[in-house]
Amino acid sequence: MAVEKMLGLGLTAVKSNFVRLRRPYKLNFCVTYRCQSRCLTCDIWKMKPTGELTLDEIRTFAQRNPYFQWIELTGGEVFLRGDIVEIARAFKENSKGLYILTMPTNSLCNQQMVMEKLTEILKLGIPRVAITVSLDGYRELHDRIRGIPGNFDKAMSMFKSLKRLKETYPGLYFVFGYTLSKLNQGQFERTYQAVKAEIPDIRHSDFHINLAQISENYYNNQGLDIRPNDAAVVEELNSIIGSREAQIGVIPAIENTFLKNLVYYAKTGRAPMRSKSLEASLFLDSYGNIFPSIMWNRKIGNIRELDYALDSIWEGDAAKEIRRMIAEGSEPQQWTACEAYQSIIGDMLSLVSPSGKRA
Ligand SMILES: C[S@@+](CC[C@H](N)C(=O)[O-])C[C@H]1O[C@@H](n2cnc3c(N)ncnc32)[C@H](O)[C@@H]1O
Ligand code: SF4
Repeated sequence: MAVEKMLGLGLTAVKSNFVRLRRPYKLNFCVTYRCQSRCLTCDIWKMKPTGELTLDEIRTFAQRNPYFQWIELTGGEVFLRGDIVEIARAFKENSKGLYILTMPTNSLCNQQMVMEKLTEILKLGIPRVAITVSLDGYRELHDRIRGIPGNFDKAMSMFKSLKRLKETYPGLYFVFGYTLSKLNQGQFERTYQAVKAEIPDIRHSDFHINLAQISENYYNNQGLDIRPNDAAVVEELNSIIGSREAQIGVIPAIENTFLKNLVYYAKTGRAPMRSKSLEASLFLDSYGNIFPSIMWNRKIGNIRELDYALDSIWEGDAAKEIRRMIAEGSEPQQWTACEAYQSIIGDMLSLVSPSGKRA
């Protein structure tokens, strides 16, 4: 079954190289904007969300759109949703081809509770469950960027608990998610060494790297001065790429391609590949609003007004306009993990290009 679902996702990915998909295979879904952190790069924690989608509404959405093969549940902090297991169950029961579920965490919730919920999610039988443990610096730096004393130690403890859980559930994957910003530029290697002191078998390739972005419809952080210095970030990214251990497999190949192209994006501010927003993926926020992506503040509908079914969106005028903008290259330039993987697997030649963006 797992192999079948992996092949199903692979087939969709290959197809997206040649034809426009009839509907997206990846859902980026912010399940709540609630957050107990105080980060300097993201202002989601300042939001006071009310009227977010209920579990019943999410179940209805999952039933009426049963074709997702890859789901990213994000937040806010996903584990602040007491019904996170039921949300995962709703998608697993309805999207029969679901191969991968990913979730980031700030490690601030009670970790015993998180491990219990995660165990229940793993028992659902989704072939691949991937957790990103956010980590933005060594102990003092991480705690300063996150505004929470003790957060570094909680992230270490989370990672160690995930390692133990993987002994029972081999379908569990996890990495540290490092957001490179003006606040931590030049500090990756020191952070890596601080982690190594806690987790001796850690590898550079256990870190997913991401550039700090401004987004009105997700991070709510317009006006924050967090963009790293372009030249310094390019140098640091190249050094990170150089230090990554060689790994075999499709996912490491995609990750390497993502990183090499991140250098191009950092240098030029241009996305290295054509966006697949609203073709391969969409962003759904916790109020039911639909956007092409987390970086494209163009609301194209709300599932509450569409009887929770996305069908009418794909061939609607807004979708056509978005595709036209992508075709002529006038869409907002983005290269984030939420979107870039779909572009990479929809442009498979990029996986064999040694130096990032193809000429
Ligand atoms: C918005 S958070 C939501 C999940 C959870 N609250 C957390 O921090 O892990 C998702 C990811 O975005 C990263 N992030 C925070 N601020 C960012 C920014 N300005 N640009 C890009 N990524 C950012 C976080 O480090 C985290 O890995
Ligand atoms: S990055 Fe995550 S933890 Fe920090 S404010 Fe944003 S949602 Fe909260």
